[in-house]
Amino acid sequence: MKKTLLAMTLVLGSLGTVHWATADEGEREHGLLSLLGYGQDVDPVANATYKEECGSCHFAYQPGLLPERSWQGIMTGLKDHFGDNAELEQPVRDQISQYLVANAADHSATGRSPGIAKALTTEGAPLRITETAYFRRKHHEVPERMVKENPQVKSFSQCQTCHTKAESGSFDEHQVEIPGFGGRHH
Ligand code: HEC
Ligand code: HEC
Repeated sequence: MKKTLLAMTLVLGSLGTVHWATADEGEREHGLLSLLGYGQDVDPVANATYKEECGSCHFAYQPGLLPERSWQGIMTGLKDHFGDNAELEQPVRDQISQYLVANAADHSATGRSPGIAKALTTEGAPLRITETAYFRRKHHEVPERMVKENPQVKSFSQCQTCHTKAESGSFDEHQVEIPGFGGRHH
């Protein structure tokens, strides 16, 4: 009973905001499932050191968003990390590397991770999530003016600015609210 009430409150609460997606019957059902926690796309970050060290400049990307070889490439190139120096002391770096590799897309059974790993088999070891074909396919309808030209977003790398549940590992399109835009505009 309590659970039902909570679900109702969540659904009613969500009606007040404009979401990216239009809510026809089928989609709303999917949205409800997500609100109830069935929409896990990737496992949430579960390592405090990683969150602290790799979440200070940007969103702490979940390891299940990239395959092992990508994380290894990122972790061995931290001195020149997209123009920044993100080098760490070796014990800390090793600890983070182990966490990322153990939970990488190709070692996770959660949500989208297996699909991401499969989609990237022909893409070498991309260092950016945002440059993979998988990511581009999901975002090709989102125009520049909502991203680069949007002072509240600036870059696709800032997942959490649009995906309101990004930190919990949910990237469902129904939980997208683009700052300054809100609903579907295209
Ligand atoms: C000193 C700041 C800083 C720290 C610390 C840092 N990064 Fe980054 N990272 C950046 C910048 C800058 C970018 C490029 C962002 C952009 O293009 O908007 C980036 C991008 C990334 C991307 C690619 C995002 C995309 O576009 O798909 C990944 C993955 C990443 N970082 C992982 C890590 C990991 C893992 C750590 C911890 C070992 C880390 N970062 C620590 C500054 C940092
Ligand atoms: C400018 C806002 C914005 C940013 C930043 C952004 N996304 Fe998205 N994302 C969207 C929108 C809008 C959709 C739905 C697109 C559609 O359905 O046409 C989406 C869809 C997705 C989907 C598919 C969801 C579904 O229900 O099919 C995934 C997965 C995803 N994004 C992951 C990410 C990740 C990971 C990042 C950061 C590296 C990110 N996104 C950054 C706006 C954004």
